[in-house]
Amino acid sequence: MIVAIDGPAATGKSTSAKKVARELGFIHLDTGAMYRCVTLAVLRNQITLDNESALSQLLDGLDIRLKKLDDELVVYLNGEDVSDEIRKAEVTSYVSTVSALSQVRNALVRIQRNIAKNQDCVVEGRDIGTIVFPDAKFKFFLVADDFVRAQRRQLDLIAIGEEKSIAVLVEEIRQRDFLDSKRSNSPLCKADDAIEIDTSKMTFDEQVAFMVNRVKK
Ligand code: DC
Repeated sequence: MIVAIDGPAATGKSTSAKKVARELGFIHLDTGAMYRCVTLAVLRNQITLDNESALSQLLDGLDIRLKKLDDELVVYLNGEDVSDEIRKAEVTSYVSTVSALSQVRNALVRIQRNIAKNQDCVVEGRDIGTIVFPDAKFKFFLVADDFVRAQRRQLDLIAIGEEKSIAVLVEEIRQRDFLDSKRSNSPLCKADDAIEIDTSKMTFDEQVAFMVNRVKK
């Protein structure tokens, strides 16, 4: 069974998807982390995005693994733990550009479908309910107020030793949403049959309980 959780940046997808997966006993698949890994690899290898053959070589050699350790998601890129690095400002500011490329999307969607082929999964992202798993049994679309999202992102950044003002974060989040929803390939949008949840005034526990109850019902 697939539970799809989509929505714009910083709406609480990752934290709640992780808990929903734990409560249901499902695998948690964070597809944003996968796009962030590709972005990190592109930056490290100084690949220009119009260089299709270099990009294709990079994608062919890509080994992304998401593992749960002590209830935390650990992300490995070619064997290296990059969990913190993929959340840093440089990757965040470039990830929407990299993830708009069809070459990148095709490669990652193939991997995502493969992972979820034989196991129950909670899959979070932008295009899960529309493109990757249009037949997902349950689809949730999380939204939240811009200011609340910026506050949440600020706390995430503090945890990895970075600081940004709320005003800057609101601007960055809006810019990322704009790029993610305007791209031609698999833009961020709510599936017709998704349940929208406004998380602005909800705690993570409330978000999780809402989704878990829906699935269990
Ligand atoms: O959820 P996140 O902020 O970690 O996602 C990072 C970026 O990855 C997001 O700005 C757009 C891209 N992304 C995507 O294009 N498709 C997905 N299914 C998941 C993420």
